[in-house]
Amino acid sequence: MIKQLIMPNSKQLKINIGCGPTGQIKGFDNLDNSPSVLLSKMPFIKPILYKIGLIAEHHYKADWSCVIQCDVSKGLPYKDKSVDKIYSSHFLEHIPQDKAIRVLKECYRVLKTGGIMRLVVPDLFFYAKQYIEQTQTLLEHSILPDDRSIHDTFLKSMYGAYLNKKRSGAEHCYMYDLPTLVSILNEIGFQNIWKCEFKEGVDKELASYDSRPNDSLHLEVRK
Ligand SMILES: C[S@@+](CC[C@H](N)C(=O)[O-])C[C@H]1O[C@@H](n2cnc3c(N)ncnc32)[C@H](O)[C@@H]1O
Repeated sequence: MIKQLIMPNSKQLKINIGCGPTGQIKGFDNLDNSPSVLLSKMPFIKPILYKIGLIAEHHYKADWSCVIQCDVSKGLPYKDKSVDKIYSSHFLEHIPQDKAIRVLKECYRVLKTGGIMRLVVPDLFFYAKQYIEQTQTLLEHSILPDDRSIHDTFLKSMYGAYLNKKRSGAEHCYMYDLPTLVSILNEIGFQNIWKCEFKEGVDKELASYDSRPNDSLHLEVRK
């Protein structure tokens, strides 16, 4: 009789790309290339840099000690078809589009067949609709409207701190909407793609990590 070998504790490999200071998930490999990851290993230097204003407060106070320092635009440090789940929230828009496509190709490479990825990005459609609706209302109620906030909110959503002269590095490089992201994912080879709502999805675990309800586009893809 042939006995089936079952690995009782075979752990799933799950990764969280661009976890940031507060988005780390227990049981995942949390990847980020922020200098704060390296600084967390230098407890004497970090407070000095914070005092002289080189580190933002939320970066200073966050615990980065479990984050893996990794510039994912250079590739994901995993073997082909070795990863069960990928989560990534409000990360893709922070790198240029060609690099983002490279990262998504890497996600495809490392995901196991049947593996699942949940992507959350700020939705360009949400911001464009908000801009048009609010500007329309302004124009209808005022002959000579005098308000820059609607325009600035829209541009800021696309280019982050574009309005500030000094760039912080946290600006958006690109913005996605549903047709664009689906097209990119299709080109890469992902065939099963679902548009999801906040905290809802095919993979209940991944959906439970959502933290940005208002302006986000949530997608799940299965390889
Ligand atoms: C806006 S934060 C998102 C944090 C968190 N995922 C969330 O939803 O709140 C974007 C994160 O992506 C990281 N990031 C940007 N470019 C990266 C790269 N090339 N490789 C890895 N992480 C990167 C930044 O350091 C930052 O922590």
